[in-house]
Amino acid sequence: MADIKAKAVIGTNSWGGKAYGKALRGNYVEDSVIKEAMCEAKDRGLLIYDLARDYGLGKAQKMFGEFAEEIGSDNMIISAKYTPMGHYKKSCVRRSLEKDLADFKRSYVDIYWLHLPTDIEQHLAEIIELYNDGKIRGIGVSNFDLEECRLAKQILDKAGIPLYGVQNHYSLISREWEKNGLLDWCRENGISFWAWAVLEEGMLTDPRIKTKFSPMKFFMNRQKRKMHELYRVMIAVAKRHDITVPQVAEAYCANKGIVPICGCRKPKQVTELAEAVNVKLSSGEIRRLEEAADRSGAKVLGADMFRIFVPKKGGQHG
Ligand SMILES: NC(=O)c1ccc[n+]([C@@H]2O[C@H](COP(=O)([O-])OP(=O)(O)OC[C@H]3O[C@@H](n4cnc5c(N)ncnc54)[C@H](OP(=O)(O)O)[C@@H]3O)[C@@H](O)[C@H]2O)c1
Repeated sequence: MADIKAKAVIGTNSWGGKAYGKALRGNYVEDSVIKEAMCEAKDRGLLIYDLARDYGLGKAQKMFGEFAEEIGSDNMIISAKYTPMGHYKKSCVRRSLEKDLADFKRSYVDIYWLHLPTDIEQHLAEIIELYNDGKIRGIGVSNFDLEECRLAKQILDKAGIPLYGVQNHYSLISREWEKNGLLDWCRENGISFWAWAVLEEGMLTDPRIKTKFSPMKFFMNRQKRKMHELYRVMIAVAKRHDITVPQVAEAYCANKGIVPICGCRKPKQVTELAEAVNVKLSSGEIRRLEEAADRSGAKVLGADMFRIFVPKKGGQHG
């Protein structure tokens, strides 16, 4: 069973090839820089990597496996996922996990998430088998709503396995899961909540620093125009604690008892993440940040953005 007390997690979605890096982030980061970032993470005790088969168009997992072997992967913690892109098919999870393990050069993963709430009973049944085979040490669910989390917990309870965590979208400007009770439910049941995209793909970074154009940033700019007041509050909080604006977004999550997963490709981003999760924000600062976020009305990724990939029971997509 996974007894992992996560404080912060390194996201790997943006690792990968040149064209992918440019399209997604507007720039490409050399593999050597990513390896340096992993070394920095090791030095800072940030040992958890969030991975999935499709990250970096399939390159991220392979990069992790190679670099981890070179750096020394003994105490690195792997968070990996099964992504159902249609209805359940017999052995689909086992086949996918076997490929993952070959990428990671490991015989097990520490935490394995069902990435979407598709055919929950069948997918979890196979994940439980893999847990019992020792290939998975902890089980989580991702992009699940409260009812789906309850169902997952029930299924796992019956098998005598704890639900380790819920991994959903959450940030200062996307707090649906707090408002609709899922976060409270996790806390009441001792279930870890991991937040993906706490920097909103770069939107919750310093607006005064210009970055290269990408199609994603073009879309974000429309939202950023609504966020002047939020940025002003973030900059003031950053100044008070002598930290950067993205560190405020990261610290905000940590102060709410949520584990931030941050897309880090550079050593400095790792350093900042490691420092941010130890920054103590006051309740007044948290309130001012939330009020400014709510007033902005900005929203990029909805809590339900992946619903389109979840087929309905009868075969159609939701
Ligand atoms: N379970 C799921 O369904 C799901 C879905 C999406 C993502 N995820 C996980 O969550 C992770 C995080 O999401 P993400 O990578 O998409 O986006 P993110 O962490 O919200 O944002 C990444 C962006 O922030 C920038 N950044 C990171 N650290 C920074 C720092 N200290 N200072 C300034 N800028 C900084 C990056 O800059 P650069 O462009 O310079 O790198 C990039 O533009 C993913 O990598 C993945 O592991 C999970």
